[in-house]
Amino acid sequence: MANEKITHIVDGALEKINGATTVDELVEIKNTYLGKKSELSSMTSLIGTLPNEEKKAFGAAIHEAKEKITNEVENKLAIFKEKELNEKLQKESIDISLPGRDYHVGSRNPFHVIIDEVTDIFIGMGFEVANGPEVEKDLYNFELLNLPKNHPARDMQDTFYIDENTLLRTHTSPVQARTMEAKKGAPIRIICPGKTYRRDDDDATHSHQFAQVEGLVIDKGINIGHLKATLELFAKKMFGEKREIRLRSSFFPFTEPSVEVDITCANCGGKGCNICKGTGYIEILGAGMVHPNVLKMNGYDPDVYSGFAFGVGIERVAMLRYGIDDVRKFYQNDVRFIHQFSKK
Ligand code: PHE
Repeated sequence: MANEKITHIVDGALEKINGATTVDELVEIKNTYLGKKSELSSMTSLIGTLPNEEKKAFGAAIHEAKEKITNEVENKLAIFKEKELNEKLQKESIDISLPGRDYHVGSRNPFHVIIDEVTDIFIGMGFEVANGPEVEKDLYNFELLNLPKNHPARDMQDTFYIDENTLLRTHTSPVQARTMEAKKGAPIRIICPGKTYRRDDDDATHSHQFAQVEGLVIDKGINIGHLKATLELFAKKMFGEKREIRLRSSFFPFTEPSVEVDITCANCGGKGCNICKGTGYIEILGAGMVHPNVLKMNGYDPDVYSGFAFGVGIERVAMLRYGIDDVRKFYQNDVRFIHQFSKK
């Protein structure tokens, strides 16, 4: 009778264990059938009421029943755990054949790359690097460069004035006057790379902010041959050994004579094409022999000293070097543009 009841309980438990679908259900089943308040546990207390010869068998039957249920629960739990582990592994599996994530290393604006290259070329020729402020005095930007107030040639450079005597420098040439003032002697051999500003409407070839590299050489006996040789070497180093330069007569108030320097067109080698507009040459910079008035105003005797100066447009050089057709690209900081110039 008692054994039948035990078998019945075990059968019920096994059926439930079989049907369990979650760990929680199994735990509940375990508590119901094996806990202190379970039927099997309460049956244990009946042992005392049984005749001695039955006690042992009854006790053993209950123990066996409990063991059976425990084993079944454990087995099922193990199955659940394995299933859970497999699912987790599946979810977290790593496909080692996937390509790695690309690392984006920042790259330098081609504008800075060119400034460094130009600077290196001139340092190689014995120049030093000088600097001057971008917010400049009218005195250095114009007056000490032979451009007194109301001089018509001031119109060549549309200026952002801050007040009557202060402006955003329109070129790097004020560094010429500043260097002469600071050095008060010769020789001078400096370049000055830096930002410059003019009141231009921005378009593909104009930008209200741009950059130049100024050059100034002053010593006894400097002549236009030195100017030409220096700029020729620069042009060849910057644009290639095959490039030739030519000097074309021009006008700047602070140089006399003044020249515009052209290089042979890289595209057609000087024959004439649509890039050089049929001329075979492309203009790259303005230059000239330092005007005697400029020497005098800045404390150098023009009968003793002479010099040459030049101003290179950085964007222009970069555009020619890299075939860039819009000056605004240097300032928009579009990484798709800038990344093209990164050295991988
Ligand atoms: N400062 C001139 C310009 O910006 C360039 C230049 C510099 C010309 C030095 C002659 C000598 O146009």
